[in-house]
Amino acid sequence: MIQYDETHQIFKLDTPHTSYIFGLADNYPGHIYYGKKLGDTDLAWLLRAEDRPQPPSVLRREKTSFFDFFPMEYPFEGVGDFRECCINIRTEDGQEGLELTYQSHRIFRGKRVLPGLPSTQGEDSSTLEVELLDKVTGLTVVLSYTVFDDTDAVAQSVRVRNGGERPLFLTKVLSACLHVEPDMGAGQEMEVLTLPGSWGRERSMQRQKMGYGTVSAESKRGVSSHQSHPFMALVSKNCTQTVGEVYAMNFVYSGNFAARAMKDQFDRIRMVMGIHPERFCWKLAPGEEFQAPEVVLVYSDEGLGKMTRSFHDLYRKHLIRGYWKDRRRPVLINNWEATYFNFNTEKLLEIAREAAKAGIEMLVVDDGWFGHREMDDSSLGDWTVNEEKLPGGFRYLADEVNRLGMKLGIWLEPEMISEDSDLYRAHPDWALQLKGREPGQCRAQYVLDLSRQEVRAYIYDRIKEVLSSANIEYVKWDMNRPLADVGNAVLSPDQQGEISHRYMLAVYEMQERLLKDFPKLLLENCSSGGGRFDPGILYYSPQIWCSDDTDAVERLAIQEGTQLLYPLSSIGAHVSACPNHQTGRTVPLEMRGIAALSGTFGYELDITRLSEDEKKQILEQTKLCRQYSALIREGDYYRLESWQRSHAFDSYMVVSKDRKEALLTCVQVLSRPNRASRRLRLQGLDPEAFYEIEGKSFQGATLMYAGLLIPPAHGDFQARLIPIRQMA
Ligand code: DGJ
Repeated sequence: MIQYDETHQIFKLDTPHTSYIFGLADNYPGHIYYGKKLGDTDLAWLLRAEDRPQPPSVLRREKTSFFDFFPMEYPFEGVGDFRECCINIRTEDGQEGLELTYQSHRIFRGKRVLPGLPSTQGEDSSTLEVELLDKVTGLTVVLSYTVFDDTDAVAQSVRVRNGGERPLFLTKVLSACLHVEPDMGAGQEMEVLTLPGSWGRERSMQRQKMGYGTVSAESKRGVSSHQSHPFMALVSKNCTQTVGEVYAMNFVYSGNFAARAMKDQFDRIRMVMGIHPERFCWKLAPGEEFQAPEVVLVYSDEGLGKMTRSFHDLYRKHLIRGYWKDRRRPVLINNWEATYFNFNTEKLLEIAREAAKAGIEMLVVDDGWFGHREMDDSSLGDWTVNEEKLPGGFRYLADEVNRLGMKLGIWLEPEMISEDSDLYRAHPDWALQLKGREPGQCRAQYVLDLSRQEVRAYIYDRIKEVLSSANIEYVKWDMNRPLADVGNAVLSPDQQGEISHRYMLAVYEMQERLLKDFPKLLLENCSSGGGRFDPGILYYSPQIWCSDDTDAVERLAIQEGTQLLYPLSSIGAHVSACPNHQTGRTVPLEMRGIAALSGTFGYELDITRLSEDEKKQILEQTKLCRQYSALIREGDYYRLESWQRSHAFDSYMVVSKDRKEALLTCVQVLSRPNRASRRLRLQGLDPEAFYEIEGKSFQGATLMYAGLLIPPAHGDFQARLIPIRQMA
């Protein structure tokens, strides 16, 4: 629900359990509160206290000091706010700065679609749009806020329009800003939680003290990246999975981003998030608009766990779309780690035959089926099947695979071009490049300049031809290098700063077309593993490959960081061969299966080389996956223990929404001597109800407050699944 209290000039946005409140002072919108739900709207006193710097109508001589203090809802650069601001413009005169004041607002049911961009959706929502104006240039800014009837999240975005008569250059346009004023009583010290990483080590959880100055998380790589993540949370120092406050932001965008938290001279914290302002500059001719992507905000007063469940619900209900949204995904087998580039139809069919017997439902042909690609250094851009490897093309393969009762999926990397390709020989200028400089290769490839319409139209047509050539039901859309040399000879010099964002819009446009042309296609995004795992790309593909690191122990940590925000049904997780190709570690097949079960579940190994015993185990695993798939896809996720913190023990559980069924996972990563059983307090159960665990009955309250005894296992890498069922 959204209210405007006209007397006090207060906007109040309520989600089921939270309120987000801001108001006006001298027509400047100022943030008042985000937190547990409040009843009152008369909160103007929190914004306009007399002992705080006064607005210019009261104290003209201190206007700049006011700007430097006021918790501006959408802070602007150049006129006195010296903290992290959200927007800046440059005029034709080369001058920077603007001043935004309230003009009007509207409140309506539902939510607008952001043109060309991913965003949360839902009729069961209310939206507030507040229009601000920079009187000198005529620039208008529309701040948009949506709250959902059923989810504790606020979606914010910003639309900018040049209503003046001269061109303007938008040099910074972030999407959201939040002020947190820690209260004195609790002496609240805040920390900043981010998810930095690396290739193969994505989304590790990092907490650091919020001291004076700025903490940032950012990517300038053209993708949300392995190294950083478009997420930031301010958390109270005492915050755990179950207690403490959390103010979180996640960016529904897959390109360059900046997230910053800054503690000012008065101990207040401002957190902002949006498109990275560096090398960004968007020319706005008179009458033109720019739509900035969406940031979603979540507040929790019960620690990280509650934040996680709000994000999961938001993404499952209001972001993930299409045919596969609420459907069980096929258990797949991907040939990448089984064969790398060395395969042909016969090898793939051998794998498929064994896979079908083991209950696997889809074969995915990874990199190497096109052009003359025998290594990673050729043929990207030449999207025609290599008939020497695959005689009869995908038509023959799909027919054979379908005959086995399985589906066929393929890998594509539409955004790239190899130097050794017919496409590059014909169009060397189609690679992103800076005038007069040879573009740099990465994985022996260049990035296609998809910001150019003719380039993306050509590539799209080629991939459409391939997908139309056979019954292909899944695509893994890969992207294996960052964007560098971001320039082209097509856009004018004053529009070169638009290319990175135009590139992202192009990727979104191509994926949208793909989903329209092939509505039942299951799309999985991927970027050298989990380099573009973000809510933006989740809007197009209900699942995303989480990491190229398939080692089950490593995966526990990578998946923990990913599950912090994203539903289990979106996390691409496979069982791979041992010794593991990334770490050399050998982990029992049982644990590899259990680790992959908290994701989309599949295999990435040469099943023809496994023993009969192992194949039998796989058959059991695929049965288990089908049995628990609805619970894992729809249930509430609770993180109980983290092996990185406890150095040995990892545990999480999924509980059905009606609390009748749960699945507990316990993993002893490393065995230690002289250990006794340990208590594990469960979460999310009905305290009154009785549950059956391994033939014994326990009350929910006992399991949650006293705990269950988990005996130590003998040996490293021992995983257990413990089903929990409410008794009738
Ligand atoms: C990177 C992906 O993450 C891998 O799974 C695989 O598809 C390779 N690319 C293929 O080049």
